[in-house]
Amino acid sequence: MNVLLIDGHPDLNTSTANAAILSQFKAHTDWRFHHLGERDVVVADEQAALLAADLVIVQFPLYWSTFPHVLKKWIDDVFTYDFAFGPNGSKLKGKTLLFSITAGAKEASYSIEGFNLMPFFAYQRAFEHAFVAAEMTLLDTVITFEMNADPNEGGDKSACLALARQHADKVMSTVAALNF
Ligand SMILES: Cc1cc2nc3c(=O)[nH]c(=O)nc-3n(C[C@H](O)[C@H](O)[C@H](O)COP(=O)(O)O)c2cc1C
Repeated sequence: MNVLLIDGHPDLNTSTANAAILSQFKAHTDWRFHHLGERDVVVADEQAALLAADLVIVQFPLYWSTFPHVLKKWIDDVFTYDFAFGPNGSKLKGKTLLFSITAGAKEASYSIEGFNLMPFFAYQRAFEHAFVAAEMTLLDTVITFEMNADPNEGGDKSACLALARQHADKVMSTVAALNF
């Protein structure tokens, strides 16, 4: 099984949660990692990597309830007409997709009455759009809330690292259960 991991963190040097999760994933030396915060995207290379993948893991920290800019740009640039949508645009059809998401907020804040305005599934439906248009098969969305390592913002680094470990374990067991 070819696994492609798209890392949508804009700067891993400032990351606790995503950096810890990714370092656990690196035990899979056969997975391919594309770190979008580190380099310019070459569209043909990204499309070739997607074509070669059986499973695409899209990992990102939730920013304003959606993707950080590097991941949004990657989608805008790579999910092109006649590749990801359009009359001849079924190149990604049936590829398995898994979202791996870290969030700082409490889950309960995602409600009509809460700070984050809507239930999380409403945002989720919106950010899935390009992938649904590309006819990919969503296997799972693993999201962990309250991943805040910054004591100045009420966070705790060791609690965040413990959540990161649980998160990575959950993603890896979901992948291990796949029978390709
Ligand atoms: C610009 C920005 C916007 C954010 N917006 C949200 C948000 O809408 N909902 C949420 O739960 N967390 C939000 N957060 C918190 C991040 O999701 C959290 O810091 C991140 O997942 C932790 O991962 P990291 O340690 O790898 O950076 C935001 C953080 C930043 C920097």
